[in-house]
Amino acid sequence: MTAEDALVVFTPSGKRGRFPIGTPLLQAARSLGVDIDSVCGGRAICGRCQVLVMEGEFAKHGVTSSAANLSALSPAEQSYSKRRTLPGGHRLSCSSRVQGDLVVDVPQSSQVHRQVVRKQADARLITLDPVVHLHYVEVQQPDMHDPSGDLQRLVKALRTEWQLDDLTCDLQVMQTLQPALRQGEWKVTVAVHDESLAHGSAGRIIGVWPGFHERAFGLAIDVGSTTIAAHLCDLESGEVVASSGTMNPQIRFGEDLMSRVSYSMMHPGGAQQMTDAVRSALNTLAIDVAREAGVTAQDILEITLVGNPIMHHLLLGIDPVELGGAPFALATDDAVTLRAGELGLNLHPNARVYVLPCIAGHVGADAAGMILAERPDLGDELTLLVDVGTNAEIVLGNRERVLACSSPTGPAFEGAQISCGQRAAPGAIERVRIDPNTLEPRFKVIGSDLWSDEAGSAEAVARTGVTGICGSGIIEVIAQMYLAGIISQDGVIDGALAARSDRIVPTGRTFGYVVHRGAVTLTITQNDVRAIQLAKAALYAGIRLLMDNLGVDHVDRIRLAGAFGSHIDVKYAMVLGMIPDCDLSKVASAGNAAGTGARIALLDKGSRKTIEELVRKVEKIETAIEPRFQAHFVAAMGIPHSTATYVHLREAVELPARKEPAPRANARGGRRRA
Ligand code: FES
Repeated sequence: MTAEDALVVFTPSGKRGRFPIGTPLLQAARSLGVDIDSVCGGRAICGRCQVLVMEGEFAKHGVTSSAANLSALSPAEQSYSKRRTLPGGHRLSCSSRVQGDLVVDVPQSSQVHRQVVRKQADARLITLDPVVHLHYVEVQQPDMHDPSGDLQRLVKALRTEWQLDDLTCDLQVMQTLQPALRQGEWKVTVAVHDESLAHGSAGRIIGVWPGFHERAFGLAIDVGSTTIAAHLCDLESGEVVASSGTMNPQIRFGEDLMSRVSYSMMHPGGAQQMTDAVRSALNTLAIDVAREAGVTAQDILEITLVGNPIMHHLLLGIDPVELGGAPFALATDDAVTLRAGELGLNLHPNARVYVLPCIAGHVGADAAGMILAERPDLGDELTLLVDVGTNAEIVLGNRERVLACSSPTGPAFEGAQISCGQRAAPGAIERVRIDPNTLEPRFKVIGSDLWSDEAGSAEAVARTGVTGICGSGIIEVIAQMYLAGIISQDGVIDGALAARSDRIVPTGRTFGYVVHRGAVTLTITQNDVRAIQLAKAALYAGIRLLMDNLGVDHVDRIRLAGAFGSHIDVKYAMVLGMIPDCDLSKVASAGNAAGTGARIALLDKGSRKTIEELVRKVEKIETAIEPRFQAHFVAAMGIPHSTATYVHLREAVELPARKEPAPRANARGGRRRA
């Protein structure tokens, strides 16, 4: 160090050092361990290394910084800014040199391990450090005096320029390397897949492009039994560039999970048919999202997958028959890393797949994704995560312990087994309110923003009609029937109210409540109420078992996940007693948490190790063999519950007084029932 050395302070890290005048700024940053990105290796091509010189006196750092203390715009930067705009004041750190004291800001977008903002307000940030990285290199040309192969010279360049040691290479890259090198005039971009997690080796070259290739893409997919959701992410920026969803085509083999397992048992080759169906849906989705982003499916280098155990097995081509009965053995509960081609996926020829680990025979990689997205293990608060589906997956815990189980709720919450139930689609009622005095309902239909009693609502739904009630609508209508006194705490529709309202109608030996009269009459029957009571009691009993195992009688916060969980009004879920009592301000939707988990695993390779370790620590509770399940189930049949008091809920909602069942006809005249 000499007196002439300049002081350079990098923000926001605060790292500082003295450097000889003329030191390239990127080199100064690297020597201090400042996190600045680069794909092109300092050739002023990628623009990833942008920084901003702060002007003025910085007493905190003891520096007076000025843009004049950085070398003038170099020819390389000038040629970069002819191709792309360099935002005001931004400089390429690889192509500028220190001329005096500086305070240099490294914007988020230039940091290697930058954080990606998730959409939900309370969600954590995702660290961007994907398993695939692009590197641009100049390779020495072959020469009669140096008989080394093109690959060896490429590997040497990657070692010198990027400090990548012990690289291996896919055959397909060797097959395309020579034309790529010659076409790119000995400049190529390679994609290097970090193999240290899966195979303990360094990196593997999985792609090569002539010249500078800027973007690498990854796909995060949640394979649900009803729907499949895919997010295409730019692996360099972490941005979701396109999203799409589709129905799971396996539905034609069976609506719910168990009917798909039985299809596989009853039909030779049935499992393969379902495997083919889901894989072809993934291929179509990949093409769709790639097209939406203006790229092709061949640009997708990495894919992460989550799904429940049966979806997981069918996707991997494993017959799920063992998951159809006790002891519900998984073929594997480890994370699976493989080539996309092995799953018949037509992506980049060397694209890799990472399937998150399963937790137990009924608690799959989707629950692992939910845990990764919500990280209940990081807080002191006791967090309950519930993915409401045909088979609810339930996780409860905090930094001390995390427990998981599943509960067989059946398809009632999704509108199946309900006389007027239907999938959430235009025409389905999704919100319901009932006037407790007149017992008249008003509702909202998917596809219209108007309540049914608002002007213009009839016209708004004229195109679709009012065709049924979807899952969230069913939760609301039954909760509202309870709040309006139409059903008792035991779930019995009060036929005596027929004298007061023509909405209460006899349906055989019991009564029903007419929500809508139109081209189709939509009536909630006593059987519908029962089906929902059974489903919610199963869900609650599963949650209660986890609480018993933890020795607690309350939870601090609740997150409802899954497509359905995101649509339910949490207040009505609690009125119905699907979830235990909790401060309502601490109950929220987690959106598609499983899919978010897949996205985190895609963008942050370190998260894979985290979830692999975490699932091993999760204590699995098997509801099927727990003797207390039945007792919890019976007590949970009441609305909201037969014995639990729901103190928090009562503060927010006025619950009706307990209704005694109406005297039965044969009890009149004082005759006792046998
Ligand atoms: S490192 Fe690529 S432009 Fe500077």
